[in-house]
Amino acid sequence: MLAMNFRGPFRVRADRDKPYPEIKHPDDAIIRVTRSCICGSDLHLYHGLVPDTRVGMTFGHEFTGIVEETGPGVQKLKVGDHVIVPFNIACGTCAFCNQQLYGNCHESNPSATAVGGIFGYSHTAGGYDGGQAEYVRVPYADVGPVVIPEGMDLDDAVLLTDVTPTGYQAAEMGGIQQGDTVVVFGAGPIGCMAAKCAWLFGAGRVIVIDHLEYRLEFVREYAQCEAYNFKSMDDPVVFLKKATDWLGADVCIDAVGCEAEGSKLQTLVGRKLPLTGGSATALHWAINSVKKGGIVSIVGVYGPLDSLVPIGNVVNKGLTIRANQASVKRLLPKLIDHVMAGRLNPKGLVTHRIPLEEVSDAYHIFSKKLDGCIKPILIPPAARA
Ligand SMILES: NC(=O)c1ccc[n+]([C@@H]2O[C@H](COP(=O)([O-])OP(=O)(O)OC[C@H]3O[C@@H](n4cnc5c(N)ncnc54)[C@H](O)[C@@H]3O)[C@@H](O)[C@H]2O)c1
Ligand SMILES: [Zn+2]
Ligand SMILES: [Zn+2]
Repeated sequence: MLAMNFRGPFRVRADRDKPYPEIKHPDDAIIRVTRSCICGSDLHLYHGLVPDTRVGMTFGHEFTGIVEETGPGVQKLKVGDHVIVPFNIACGTCAFCNQQLYGNCHESNPSATAVGGIFGYSHTAGGYDGGQAEYVRVPYADVGPVVIPEGMDLDDAVLLTDVTPTGYQAAEMGGIQQGDTVVVFGAGPIGCMAAKCAWLFGAGRVIVIDHLEYRLEFVREYAQCEAYNFKSMDDPVVFLKKATDWLGADVCIDAVGCEAEGSKLQTLVGRKLPLTGGSATALHWAINSVKKGGIVSIVGVYGPLDSLVPIGNVVNKGLTIRANQASVKRLLPKLIDHVMAGRLNPKGLVTHRIPLEEVSDAYHIFSKKLDGCIKPILIPPAARA
């Protein structure tokens, strides 16, 4: 079958000879993919920053598809169902799934104790092939997949697998109170969605920080917020303090993660060498520009190694830090409602619809932030017919 194939950092291609996935466990299903996205998280893999990313792996943790085949243990999911598949692979019954921490399933990723399994996200996240392909194997098929509601646009549906829940959870973890000032670092798809969701929680002011002018322009329109370029500031922390009566923002959200720009030191130790789990520049700014007693919500992805984080300031300012991979299954019912009611418009983030065969160009465009790219979707041949 046709599938994205990782050949090493900055080298991916579409191959036609990937074997069809097989049912390996009674609870598996095989899904024929109708949409898959490239995510900022895939860029960390593509740039060679995630350990144990093996040549031959197919990425893709954001996909929708039609159930083609089910194992003998699958009871709810039916052949022909068109489903949204959460990016986290969750067993549904372990101690953590029971707390709705579906991103931290204890069963789906035996090679780690922190994160659960994730489709197409290296062997550190379980070694599962992903959905940037014609077909994909979905374990625990009765747990994650949700049938796409009648009338929902497919582009909205595929953005419910990750971007919408992650942006929403970023705002939720911020504990936003009525009228709060919320600063979001990063105007990628996740930052745009977090900014939009901050209003749903009652924010009184939303400020987004990035350095890509086209994205700042985009988010001003998309999330009706203020947006500023950190490259035009002497010091983003001073800028934000000044913008918030010198007290600091009530809530800061890190929607950037380990490839943050803006500090030569962080870039050297976190990205070039790399001696730490990534460049923590945005996180650093978030901690230093939130008010005393405020909340920092982190959805940006970092590696497991220590990073240069001003932990002393966290203690001395009395901050609360909340972070996780999004718990997609927990949030889906509520978010489907928001989308169907028009309160959230995920497909408004999609700037590129690219044939799966051109996956290599798609990675290049998204990685280099070319052509006004916010969110690219890959479409397999059968879904275009
Ligand atoms: N926790 C989760 O469940 C989850 C899910 C999806 C994505 N993520 C992570 O969220 C992050 C964002 O994802 P995305 O798809 O929006 O990625 P993206 O690469 O499209 O966007 C990141 C943005 O951050 C900007 N940026 C770089 N340095 C910055 C800085 N110092 N301050 C402010 N902005 C800065 C970049 O210019 C870019 O626009 C990634 O780390 C991704 O891995 C986490
Ligand atoms: Zn993603
Ligand atoms: Zn579990």
